Amino acid sequence: MGTHVVVLGSCMLDLVARIQRLPLPGETLFARSFAMFVGGKGANQAIAARRLGADAVSLVGRVGADAFGERILAALAADGVDTAHVVTGGDAGTGVAIPMVFDDGGNSIISVPGANMQMAIGDVAAASDVIAAAGALLLQFEAPMECNLAAARVAREAGVLVVLNTAPVAACPPGLLELADVLVANEVEAAALAPGAPATPAGQARSLLGLGPRAAIVTLGEDGAILATATGLDQLPSFPVPAVDSVGAGDAFCGALAVALKEGRELAAAVRFACAAGALAVTRPGATASLPSRAEVEALLVAHPPGR
Ligand code: RIB
Repeated sequence: MGTHVVVLGSCMLDLVARIQRLPLPGETLFARSFAMFVGGKGANQAIAARRLGADAVSLVGRVGADAFGERILAALAADGVDTAHVVTGGDAGTGVAIPMVFDDGGNSIISVPGANMQMAIGDVAAASDVIAAAGALLLQFEAPMECNLAAARVAREAGVLVVLNTAPVAACPPGLLELADVLVANEVEAAALAPGAPATPAGQARSLLGLGPRAAIVTLGEDGAILATATGLDQLPSFPVPAVDSVGAGDAFCGALAVALKEGRELAAAVRFACAAGALAVTRPGATASLPSRAEVEALLVAHPPGR
């Protein structure tokens, strides 16, 4: 219990090109620069939670038996994430993502899931005791949906907080949203999940709440986030920071949210904490490389008191 967070999700090696614009069909463009970073929404959220003060973090995932997988496992271990439930092997290589980062810090990502999509129900069963004993379970859509469903059921049965990040856009299986205590979506994901929703963040948040979670959050990048609960809507602002690279900012948000909720913060205060973590992640290049420390988040919160 406490702030033991279990993350079920993806591990990726991010091959990042900084570009001015997307190439047109048939066009080859020179990038401004290239770099490799450990990423994947699961690994990012696990490392975020750990850096932000979770007592313990366990990751349930898969990597291939290759150099990329070794690099990811080493990075997770270096941050103190338990990788006992990260399976190595199978006939697919470690997942690879190709983030393209623009001059304004925005990004588009191509994801090649590889070993991540070989995660099986047996992997969840093997980790079920760890999930049931955790304080929170974090899920995303970069893993097989049957595994997300199975893990969410284990958590719900055991009274473990379920935070579901609906990234990237994917078909959501019936029943999963109802198992979430807190759903986190960006505007693109919200539009896909609730296509009939009014095209405003408030309308999207209300519509997502109507799909079954106890709380729904729509993240709005530099505009912060909007929180919908049974008692109404709350708009939480972001923090003024220089935007360098937004890859991993949503994952910083989710990892921070889980930690803050398990520390006993109210939802709105937890979203504010998460917005601060997400903002800091935008100020540096890379996914896991950009994830902030607890001290950095605390300092940003102190520098920008609520309501000022
Ligand atoms: O959320 C950001 C992550 O999405 C990147 O690190 C990339 O690996 C993709 O999975």
